[in-house]
Amino acid sequence: MSQEFDVVVIGGGPAGYVAAIRASQLGLKTACCESQSYADPKGEPRLGGTCLNVGCIPSKALLHSSELYDQASHSFVMHGIKADSVTIDVPSMIKRKDNIVTQLVSGIKGLFKKYKVTFIPGHGSFVANTDGKWQVKIGEEVVTATHVIVATGSHARHLPGVPVDQNLVLDNIGALNISGVPKRLGVIGAGVIGLEMSSVWKRLGSEVTILEAMPDFLAAADANVAKEAWKIFTSKQGLNIQMGIQIKEVTPKKKTVVIKYENDDGDQTLEVDKLIVAVGRVPNTAGLNAEGVGLALDERGRIAVDHHCATNLPNVWAVGDVVPGPMLAHKGMEEGVMVAERIAGQATTINHDTIPWVIYTHPEVAWVGKTEQELKAANVPYKQGQIPFLANGRALGQGDTTGFVKVLAHAETDQILGVHILGTNASELIAEAVVAMEFGGAAEDLARTCHAHPTLSEAMHEAALAVDKRSLHF
Ligand code: FAD
Ligand code: NAI
Repeated sequence: MSQEFDVVVIGGGPAGYVAAIRASQLGLKTACCESQSYADPKGEPRLGGTCLNVGCIPSKALLHSSELYDQASHSFVMHGIKADSVTIDVPSMIKRKDNIVTQLVSGIKGLFKKYKVTFIPGHGSFVANTDGKWQVKIGEEVVTATHVIVATGSHARHLPGVPVDQNLVLDNIGALNISGVPKRLGVIGAGVIGLEMSSVWKRLGSEVTILEAMPDFLAAADANVAKEAWKIFTSKQGLNIQMGIQIKEVTPKKKTVVIKYENDDGDQTLEVDKLIVAVGRVPNTAGLNAEGVGLALDERGRIAVDHHCATNLPNVWAVGDVVPGPMLAHKGMEEGVMVAERIAGQATTINHDTIPWVIYTHPEVAWVGKTEQELKAANVPYKQGQIPFLANGRALGQGDTTGFVKVLAHAETDQILGVHILGTNASELIAEAVVAMEFGGAAEDLARTCHAHPTLSEAMHEAALAVDKRSLHF
């Protein structure tokens, strides 16, 4: 007799494990399965998906370690702190990162126990729908479910003719496990992973060259932010970022990798000790038997869903990286909660216009809502307020005044349409803007909100005041 559940979640990443916990909290009998993509050394599947195992968490751990090294090497001195011989022990840095990952992934097993989610190790795939119930094969077992939530995530896109061996040529998995500082690091793709990983190794001493196909740097960000970030990353931090290139040939040698590419000046050759390929991610739909049960995909191979993450099949939902929208952990988690609550009969919905973006470089880049170029293209009348951190007392005290906060509001209604931050702690500061926008707030609402002094958040306050041309400290 097969096990029967109200909900079976396929995939234990942030979208899947959160959906499972929420469904169980709501009294639904829930199971979550996880394949062996991120197995532990004993071969046991680890929960947490890309985010916890080879994404958000390990990358932020390395970014923080390398940032501390950079500060000790270059910034302590302005505070009168002498740290003459700062060294980096890369294996210890990697071990710390691994310990954080282990702690968090085992924490999810604990959460499953606490919330009574049944964890079934094994690859999940659709078998059929019989009498209105889904049969799902997990490993060798077939279980029955009233609802199925597909949360199978994504994997790194590789380039044809560029063999990723996780030793010389790396994707995100290998990039988070480099055992020593490469003298020369090459990166294909100046996107989010490219910039974050380049920051880690540049701070630790690598000579970094990033090769990017597109002509415009950080095209999805507000143009002002992208322009300023470009100046900081290239001129101040020394990242060699080459835009508008075309990769011709990548040849791994014994200890190095040779990249032939073309730019406006013609044919170029670059030799590096490690090469990271970070050119986007591909949704995981293979092996689900999607075709067999008629689960529709879109033109880009993602599971096609409506605004509430319902697929074309009855009682089959899909969330996270495997569906359209930004490939971000918090977006997947919100979708997971929404679907679980809708299955339980609630009317939950998500505002996809208020999903924040963060790039964890230094300074950090964070935004929510529309960019100035998007407003212009859509002919939306807007006004803006922009305040540099140079005018913020806390930033001065911290010795880190790079960047600015920019608030975009509707010219007539004053409703906040977008907020863009370049600066220290932008990842934390953006939350205030998200809350304000979730409430349909106006720039005046932020401007009339009391902000603690001295804090970096006062820059947000001042930028909101500046929308109405009444900033007080700039
Ligand atoms: P995943 O996390 O990919 O999880 C899907 C899970 O499903 C996997 O564990 C997989 O093994 C399992 N699975 C797949 N197929 C099956 C099957 N058939 N049966 C059973 N199990 C299956 N996002 C942020 O918001 N902030 C960040 O700072 C950030 N940093 C990142 C850094 C890097 C280097 C990378 C690569 C990504 C980063 N992301 C970040 C993106 C984030 O990791 C993803 O958006 C998020 O993990 C997606 O969650 P998910 O649950 O949809 O998919
Ligand atoms: P990305 O989409 O951010 O950037 C990929 C870059 O590679 C693009 O600029 C693209 O133009 C370029 N590219 C593509 N093909 C190329 C080629 N042949 N030659 C040269 N350049 C090429 O993807 P990335 O960096 O791989 O990250 C994947 C996703 O993971 C992100 O989009 C994001 O959703 C998520 N992520 C989020 C993070 C965060 O929230 N801080 C951190 C890291 C990843």
